[in-house]
Amino acid sequence: MPSSQELRVLFITSEVYPLCKTGGLGDVSAALPAALRLLQTDVRLLLPGYPQVLAGVKYKSKVAEFNELTEFPPATLLSARLSLSKTENIPVFVIDCPGLYRREGGPYMDTLGRDWPDNALRFGLLSKIGAILSSDASPIAWRPHIAHCNDWQSGLTPAYLHFHSGKKAATLMTIHNLAFQGIFPPGSVVQLGLPPNSFDINGVEYYGNLSFLKAGLYYTDHITTVSPNYAEEIQTDALGFGLQGLLAERRKNMTGIINGISTNEWDPATDPHLVKNYTSRKLSDKVANKSALQQQMGLAIDIDVPLFGVVSRLNHQKGTDLLIQIAPQLIKIPAQLVILGSDHADLEHQLTRLTKTYPSEIAVRIGFSETLSHLIEAGADCFLMPSRFEPCGLNQMYSQRYGTPPVVHATGGLRDTVVDCTPQTLADGSASGFSFFPMTVDNLLSTAKRAATAYHHKKTWQRLQKNGMAKDFSWHASAATYRKLYASLLR
Ligand code: ADP
Ligand code: GLC
Repeated sequence: MPSSQELRVLFITSEVYPLCKTGGLGDVSAALPAALRLLQTDVRLLLPGYPQVLAGVKYKSKVAEFNELTEFPPATLLSARLSLSKTENIPVFVIDCPGLYRREGGPYMDTLGRDWPDNALRFGLLSKIGAILSSDASPIAWRPHIAHCNDWQSGLTPAYLHFHSGKKAATLMTIHNLAFQGIFPPGSVVQLGLPPNSFDINGVEYYGNLSFLKAGLYYTDHITTVSPNYAEEIQTDALGFGLQGLLAERRKNMTGIINGISTNEWDPATDPHLVKNYTSRKLSDKVANKSALQQQMGLAIDIDVPLFGVVSRLNHQKGTDLLIQIAPQLIKIPAQLVILGSDHADLEHQLTRLTKTYPSEIAVRIGFSETLSHLIEAGADCFLMPSRFEPCGLNQMYSQRYGTPPVVHATGGLRDTVVDCTPQTLADGSASGFSFFPMTVDNLLSTAKRAATAYHHKKTWQRLQKNGMAKDFSWHASAATYRKLYASLLR
């Protein structure tokens, strides 16, 4: 059993902020390792060498060559550092495989939004090198005690390690989102160098195909989900995506650990993306961000009308269709709505059409903008997050920290992190937003109306804002829980 200083963890991930982020996984892959490193844990990231990763990391040096993995094109392993701030940088290993990663486009899709046709190989290689580095077959001296896999993209690491007969690390598989599983045709099993007999219900097979995530969940030593509530929900037919049976069977080896947020990146007192910084002691400074946001987005400039904000992937999970349904009634409250996001083209078009009908009340920016996302968190009065399911969700935590109470469907991590505003929760000081259940259009609209009414009661509203801003959403406690879990896997 290593002493605390020596605990070594390979954190395998397909995205990391600020180099490559499509959602919360990118944020978590930066902030959790940074928090763990403060707890004397030697965490190092393993990342695919996309162009922006190769360009963004510092002090690159070659540490190994992988020219003999018959299933994959040749790759070089680089050791480097990733800067998170002036004082914080974390060690990373980058897989430079030009044939698989050096191309224009996103990590999972091309510029037209089509999945890369060779995603099985792209993330098969990430998983494979993760497994090699975590075993006695590793060509480098640094050997982790734990291989920490994240989502389907590193789901094959536990499977490769299972079939390795030498010494190997313990494995932890974190589910950030069960909806994405990495499903490929059965032929991929052999193409990726997995034994044919692993293609079995007791193995990597999922309804006749290979599922990277199922493989990880089946072979890993332990599973975590990104909120305690989500760990329960995925054992049900409603949210188990066909894996509820396996997950219920593995429940003794599954822990829900709530995500934290980077309190450096998301701090209204210092955030460089804001027009004016503010704290809970001087909330009047927040309003400058509201008028700037209204102006930038072409909305009517009115500090009294409640402004609802959304920053989100635009899809079924996030309830974008429900937002579109309620928008015409929402603005009649009266209220304004500002949305930043992208994903499904049809939903993007419907939203753009709404702005043509209601140009002074509804503004939409299709695309990805870190700066605008921060300004919306600060400039909106209230944040809307009607996700049908939400493994954890980060924006509801950002918004509480920014004094922008969220309206959420009480599901997954949203239920774990937002306390509905009632006379009782206001009295005991815990109220921090508005939540509703079950998910219906009527519930969403009536809860938004409830929030708008509360907004006009300045005292109540300030109490809500201050309660949210006082909550500790840092990684401190959750990183310590991961640290303990890692240690327990070694025994
Ligand atoms: P998910 O990972 O399911 O998309 P999370 O709430 O965990 O949801 O995390 C989403 C992260 O991505 C947040 O940091 C959010 O601000 C960011 N984000 C989502 N869409 C955009 C966008 N269009 N522009 C900028 N940031 C975005
Ligand atoms: C996923 C989930 C989101 C979670 C994020 C980070 O993208 O959809 O709820 O916050 O991962 O764990």
